Amino acid sequence: MRTVVAITGASGAVFGLELLARLPGERFAVLSRWGQHVLREETGLGREDVAARSTRLFTDTDLSAPLASGSNAWDAMVILPCSTSTVGRIASGIADSLITRAAAVTLKEGRRLVLCPRETPLAAVTLRQLAELARDGVIVMPVSPGWYDRPATLDGLIAGFVDRVLQVLGVEQPGGWRAADLEAAARPEEARKGTY
Ligand SMILES: Cc1cc2nc3c(=O)[nH]c(=O)nc-3n(C[C@H](O)[C@H](O)[C@H](O)COP(=O)(O)O)c2cc1C
Repeated sequence: MRTVVAITGASGAVFGLELLARLPGERFAVLSRWGQHVLREETGLGREDVAARSTRLFTDTDLSAPLASGSNAWDAMVILPCSTSTVGRIASGIADSLITRAAAVTLKEGRRLVLCPRETPLAAVTLRQLAELARDGVIVMPVSPGWYDRPATLDGLIAGFVDRVLQVLGVEQPGGWRAADLEAAARPEEARKGTY
């Protein structure tokens, strides 16, 4: 499995770091200039920490990097967190950075593109752009962790959202909401024995 992970200048860089740390296979990372700024502001970490969690970290201004070409294969690209500015550029077909170019390539090659926008409130223009991208097959996953697993710590909250991103990428995760009930329902003979 080969995944491109981009971290842009929206709040929540720590979610992107957690994804990089847990993704199996090759993880090609790109950090935007403002992604780096927000990462430092929110976590005290820098480029070297993103590099340490990646197979390779590319430079966002380097449009000659291999990720700029559809002749190189990857399975999926995730932008986590995704700024509204990056949403707008991708929705308009602007490919003026490695992140937006790799997103354009991911789309044109029919590969899986997952955007995790983080902003509140959201302007109508961003909502329109996200709706259009969703119609084009982009998976839009706002950074919006669930509370039904009752996370007791911030790490648990972050991990819970990253679990969902990994699921969308096809990485098997331990059971979802009331998974044991679903498993039991799929095996009626066990249900009769009173396992649920
Ligand atoms: C501390 C800080 C927090 C920010 N948080 C957000 C945010 O949550 N969402 C967002 O869309 N933009 C946010 N921005 C603005 C973006 O960083 C800015 O629009 C930038 O141009 C995004 O560029 P990029 O998408 O190439 O990283 C923030 C900026 C700073 C400095």
